[in-house]
Amino acid sequence: MPPEYQSKDYWHARFGHETSFEWLVPSADFLKILDPFLARLPTTARILQLGCGTSDIHCLLRQRGYEHITNMDYEPLAIGRSRDIEHKMFGDSVMSYVVADATDFNLGQTRFDLVIDKSTADAVACTGPAPVISMTKAVKRCLAEDGMWLSLSFSAYRYDHDGMPLSVQVINKIPTPKAKETDPDIFHYCYLLRPMQSEACRRSK
Ligand SMILES: C[S@@+](CC[C@H](N)C(=O)[O-])C[C@H]1O[C@@H](n2cnc3c(N)ncnc32)[C@H](O)[C@@H]1O
Repeated sequence: MPPEYQSKDYWHARFGHETSFEWLVPSADFLKILDPFLARLPTTARILQLGCGTSDIHCLLRQRGYEHITNMDYEPLAIGRSRDIEHKMFGDSVMSYVVADATDFNLGQTRFDLVIDKSTADAVACTGPAPVISMTKAVKRCLAEDGMWLSLSFSAYRYDHDGMPLSVQVINKIPTPKAKETDPDIFHYCYLLRPMQSEACRRSK
């Protein structure tokens, strides 16, 4: 990713004209990866999307019955677009929209059952591992005890850092389309991040 992807000015300029765009994969493909996890989540679950941009994944989740969704982006134009997408699809907007920095946010007492991001950690990682670790710490603070973060990234090393406060596991590798058959295999990686002690609890149950 070019270095400007971590810059607010870059996103501000981009969302000035971009009304819809899906990074890495269409949101329906991301939803397929989320599906087995959603199967265990009641529709009352609290969901947080980090760096929503102009993706429509929040609306696909609402179509599944989830309405307690908070969509976060540090660029106000993206938040406006995201709300517009919901309004256009449903005729109203029931979700929460928050302008905040995914590396340092505080959403009060709310604890989320599911946190998702599609390529937001990639943008955050453009300045190095420190902001990714900060983002992980911020997610940890707002995760429910049994909560999980599903993060789709183009990098096989996105969370390979010392001092990660959540356990990290690759749960899916999506092959990217090839221009030629002889092109190398390139994947997108879906990570499951969750509190370390909840993993231990699960094992002991
Ligand atoms: C690569 S785009 C992905 C957008 C969307 N998730 C998708 O899949 O199409 C990254 C998004 O993260 C936002 N972003 C980048 N750094 C951020 C940060 N530190 N805090 C909050 N949002 C951030 C950008 O404004 C942009 O909307």
